[in-house]
Amino acid sequence: MRVLSAEFVLSATAPAHYPPAAMPEIAFAGRSNVGKSSLINTLVKRKGLARTSNTPGRTQEINFFVVNNRISFVDLPGYGYAKVPEKIRKNWRPMIETYLQERQTLRLVVLILDIRRDPSNEDHQLIEWLQYYRLPFLIVLTKIDKVSRNQRSDQRRRIGADLALSTERPLIPFSAKTGEGKDLLWRKIIKATALEPGDE
Ligand code: GTP
Ligand code: MG
Repeated sequence: MRVLSAEFVLSATAPAHYPPAAMPEIAFAGRSNVGKSSLINTLVKRKGLARTSNTPGRTQEINFFVVNNRISFVDLPGYGYAKVPEKIRKNWRPMIETYLQERQTLRLVVLILDIRRDPSNEDHQLIEWLQYYRLPFLIVLTKIDKVSRNQRSDQRRRIGADLALSTERPLIPFSAKTGEGKDLLWRKIIKATALEPGDE
């Protein structure tokens, strides 16, 4: 995918403030600090587009971006970080579920897991929820640059077994540091948005 432009649109917590639902949308979800914002920046080749941080819980609102004036990207706030203020934590679930349920243009949820960690209860809950509402999703295992080849395949198997997903749902290895997995992920995104290759 040749990214010619990538822009931040706005941050919102409620549907009334979302941008108009005008283009196919891809949402990125996962626990706090897993690397959602970094993954978006890697896909669009803009280092600081989505704000990243060593401090978990950095992204607390739903952030909308637009790529090539054709695809909308959504950086969802991460879950599972205890130090996020109680008020924000309590709002997290309704904020995300409302978004996932109401956004008509949502085409794909990219669920991001850390290759080094077992999926959390919240990861499991989100997957069950996505399945229940029949929302298309795929799973990315990120930070693969932090493990050896052997650990990578072990962890991949372990996480796959833990999630007990059907084999049609591959786990896509990814690294925001090396860019590995980026082309495959783009292909999945393009397919999900149903853009013709020539429309890219
Ligand atoms: P919240 O917004 O807090 O939910 O976090 P996030 O999921 O957006 O994570 P973010 O992209 O801010 O990354 C968190 C930390 O992990 C940062 O220090 C990143 O540099 C680092 N990181 C993210 N992806 C990778 C990766 O693929 N490899 C390595 N080595 N570090 C990564
Ligand atoms: Mg973030």
